[in-house]
Amino acid sequence: MMFPLSRNRRLRSSNAIRNLVQETLVTPKDFQAPLFVIEGKNKKEEIPSMPGYYRYSLDTLKTEVKELWAVGIQSVLLFVKVDNNLKDNKGTEALNADGLMQRAIKTVKETVPEMLIMTDVALDPFSIYGHDGIVENGIINNDASVEVLARMGLSHAEAGADFIAPSDMMDGRILIMRQLLEQENYTDVGIMSYSAKYASAFYGPFRDALDSAPVDANDIPKDKKTYQMNPANRLEAIKETLQDIEEGADIVMVKPGLCYLDIVRDIKNEVNIPVSVYQVSGEYAMIKAAAERGWLDHDAVVLEQLTAIKRAGADIISTYFAKYAAKLFNG
Ligand code: PBG
Repeated sequence: MMFPLSRNRRLRSSNAIRNLVQETLVTPKDFQAPLFVIEGKNKKEEIPSMPGYYRYSLDTLKTEVKELWAVGIQSVLLFVKVDNNLKDNKGTEALNADGLMQRAIKTVKETVPEMLIMTDVALDPFSIYGHDGIVENGIINNDASVEVLARMGLSHAEAGADFIAPSDMMDGRILIMRQLLEQENYTDVGIMSYSAKYASAFYGPFRDALDSAPVDANDIPKDKKTYQMNPANRLEAIKETLQDIEEGADIVMVKPGLCYLDIVRDIKNEVNIPVSVYQVSGEYAMIKAAAERGWLDHDAVVLEQLTAIKRAGADIISTYFAKYAAKLFNG
């Protein structure tokens, strides 16, 4: 027998051959940029736990959307930070046809008409409890929540959203949302379901950004473990995802990213529709913090993580690095 059996290093010996045999190629077209929107004028507020990431008022949002489009980002995922005095336990403001989300959708559409707009559908930014659904005696009422979430999704469609992205993890929501969209003739509006969403500690900076951390009636911090999934579970992710597809989801999602790439691969192997992965706020913050201390090479780690997410099976990556990474790829 010859030694060594095979010289694998031949295919790694130069940049040219490495490029030629590279299996996974990430491009800006894979990315979706999450955007945080606030009321006011001429505002661009940095989020303390997300250095280099901002909340935009509608006027500065226009500039950001144009910049995203210019570097090749073709989709945004919108979130709004709602004033405290507009919050209640029923999502009243979420249904306001002239609410911040609805105006943000119109603003993006007017600024860059080709930009694909997706919107987060969940009650947490609108809830005095920071919960994704309606709370009754400390318990989330699934079916009442689904009713209002479906109307919220419809309201986003009416404002011009291309896809709605329910992130609430209530049971049966995709079915009710799809039915309502069909009934109201929004047959072309798609649904990207946060289908395998884990009760993760990596959402912390996002909840800072939107002031939406879950609490009880006495303002004691709570968690979302009665609806988001247990990080220890794998089969449940597949079940949730297949069910959402049956109910009418066009795209399914795994969230967070890095700690859940095994789930991404499992789901990719199981389904025949696009899989999206959300690299969440805590994942962004970790890279920023380590890079700030000089402990990690920021750009190299960003590219490595995005490539790993795609290799695992992501067709779409929602990432706070979208704009920055697009520039890296564009050289
Ligand atoms: C709202 C929502 C959350 C995220 C996306 N949509 C927070 C949560 O569920 O508490 C997290 C995104 C991130 O951390 O970047 N339901």
